[in-house]
Amino acid sequence: MNMDLLLATSSAWADGEPGHPALDQALAAAGISARWATWDDPQVDWGAALVSVRSTWDYHERLPQFLAWAAAVPRLMNSAAVFAWNTDKSYLLELAAAGLPVVPTIVVGTAADLPAAIASFDQAVIKPSVGAGGRGVSIGTPAGPGPWVVQPLVESVRTEGETSVFVLGGEPVSMVRKLPAGEEIRVHEHYGGTTVAVVPTAEATELARRTVAVAERILGTRLDYGRVDQIRLADGTLAVSELEVTEPGLYLDVLPANGPAFAALIGRLLGRG
Ligand SMILES: Nc1ncnc2c1ncn2[C@@H]1O[C@H](COP(=O)(O)OP(=O)(O)O)[C@@H](O)[C@H]1O
Ligand SMILES: [Mg+2]
Repeated sequence: MNMDLLLATSSAWADGEPGHPALDQALAAAGISARWATWDDPQVDWGAALVSVRSTWDYHERLPQFLAWAAAVPRLMNSAAVFAWNTDKSYLLELAAAGLPVVPTIVVGTAADLPAAIASFDQAVIKPSVGAGGRGVSIGTPAGPGPWVVQPLVESVRTEGETSVFVLGGEPVSMVRKLPAGEEIRVHEHYGGTTVAVVPTAEATELARRTVAVAERILGTRLDYGRVDQIRLADGTLAVSELEVTEPGLYLDVLPANGPAFAALIGRLLGRG
């Protein structure tokens, strides 16, 4: 059966990412035929349609396999090369070198170099350089094997929270604010965090737009979609904490309007916009 779009997911989210009916309905309303398929399902013909990586949230356990899969997909949004760059948090150093405000970041390859990196901040956050969903993020001591990324603990995550701006087709379209629960610093829902839709601020949308533009310059390619996560540093600077251009959850459960916005982007890519 001919299909316009395959939405790549993982077995834990076989039916689609959280809130997927908002996207499914928007695609159907736009006349775009689509289905969700697990990225590591060998039965799927990934050459049969445009492919959008969505909830492939188990890839960090087998990154080489995921990147090889992506490289073999003929029509892939944001491209395998973008994923190879973006799935290692050391890209943050490139964004900082290009002049963007970024959470201070030290990339550490070997355990022997870890104490000095941790000692350079009052309180350090240590995380695996390849990771997602907050896994392995810890304070003071590493929770798992390296290579790692070491940053100062940005206290405002507990009060102002982390904000995320979605940029689709180069345009900021929506924003959420995410707060952690209790002693946690991780804002993810599976650690008790809460996510709410907020009216995009000029400050956050401007930083998001700039961040995507800088990444496009570094990569030498347009980015179909991205999510720019931001956090306010102690000196008041709003800084990039993460640029998600691989598998950013669209928070469709709190931002159902991301469904039609993403469907419109797909329509343009399919030449129907
Ligand atoms: N330097 C930091 N200061 C405060 N909180 C942080 C810091 N780094 C990460 N966090 C918290 O941990 C979460 C997960 O870290 P993040 O860098 O976003 O990795 P992941 O790719 O796993 O989402 C963030 O959403 C934030 O809540
Ligand atoms: Mg994150």
